[in-house]
Amino acid sequence: MEDGKHRSIDYLRISVTDRCNLKCVYCMPEGDISCLEKEEVLSFEEIIKVCKSAAKLGIKKIKLTGGEPLVRPDFVSLVRQIKAVEGIEEITLTTNGLLLEKQLEDLIEAGISQINISLDTLDPKHFKEITKVDGLDKVLAAIHKAAHSDLKRVKVNALVAKHLNEEAICALAQLAQHDAIHVRFIELMPIGLGKQFERIGKEEIIAILEEKFGILKPYKGKLGNGPAQYWEIEGFKGKIGFISAVSECFCDACNRIRLTADGFLKLCLHSKAGLDVKHLLRSGISQEELTRLIGEAIHYKPEKHHFGDAPREEDEDKIMAQIGG
Ligand code: GTP
Ligand code: 5AD
Ligand code: SF4
Repeated sequence: MEDGKHRSIDYLRISVTDRCNLKCVYCMPEGDISCLEKEEVLSFEEIIKVCKSAAKLGIKKIKLTGGEPLVRPDFVSLVRQIKAVEGIEEITLTTNGLLLEKQLEDLIEAGISQINISLDTLDPKHFKEITKVDGLDKVLAAIHKAAHSDLKRVKVNALVAKHLNEEAICALAQLAQHDAIHVRFIELMPIGLGKQFERIGKEEIIAILEEKFGILKPYKGKLGNGPAQYWEIEGFKGKIGFISAVSECFCDACNRIRLTADGFLKLCLHSKAGLDVKHLLRSGISQEELTRLIGEAIHYKPEKHHFGDAPREEDEDKIMAQIGG
């Protein structure tokens, strides 16, 4: 369906948990953070009911995110149930990769067609400094297994920030050299702990890459459902992507809505606007009425994020793990 700004909305990102088995410095506060209680989180049955309404309204692509989605018990069964919803054509997953290697075959068999794995460095000590967990080997094993599997596409998401991981840029890009892995550099957004870091722009990263690998050429093709822009390096099997939400706002082409783990239909990553679907679901709403209310909400999807402006009352103040990336 179209929203009030005539944007075609066909992509729903579902966060299945706000919990994560990493604690990245720019995302998860250290110490005891208050996670949702089990009963606050939507059940699979409730998620499926939302998917059915979303599919009726024209949602064709589902992205599963977290926190870390693979920590949710029986996650594969949810994938299977979403796959069975009429109208859903594609289910993709964004994960930190720590638990992926073991579950990969089951996930593919259940219907996941593309996996994006977050990784910000290739140095084991640095990985532990960023994430607080000694897990680089597991993530790399998962990336390589995924790259040689039946998946349609595998991507690496690398967030880059000043004084965090600038020196990792070339090594991360080289993951795209010998395998068809697309490596995307994500510009830091001023969300939660992300506000404490300084972002690095696309042009600066391109300059670093060109010094080492030669000229990058823009790639015109489409590689998924997201806002990334892709470039090619000669001799590399995968592409290099950039997601630059702040410096190159892509909101006028936004195609997505989000469902948080606690059942709030979010209309924009950076806005509190949306619909409390958990309340509706738990009040016994019919499928038809849910579809009608979600359709009505989508009409009021905000026009754009306001990262560059002074903070406003309606801006989202949750951390990324609660929003779902
Ligand atoms: P694919 O291209 O199909 O892989 O989808 P994607 O890029 O949307 O998926 P992914 O979950 O890998 O998203 C990567 C990152 O892009 C997220 O973690 C966010 O940082 C950013 N992102 C995704 N969607 C939005 C959005 O709607 N707005 C903004 N500002 N950033 C987004
Ligand atoms: N800005 C941009 N991306 C972020 N992520 C987490 N916090 C931020 C932020 N402030 C990214 C992670 C991961 C994805 C799930 O979200 O790096 O790739
Ligand atoms: Fe977990 Fe992702 Fe946040 Fe890192 S960025 S702490 S992997 S939710």
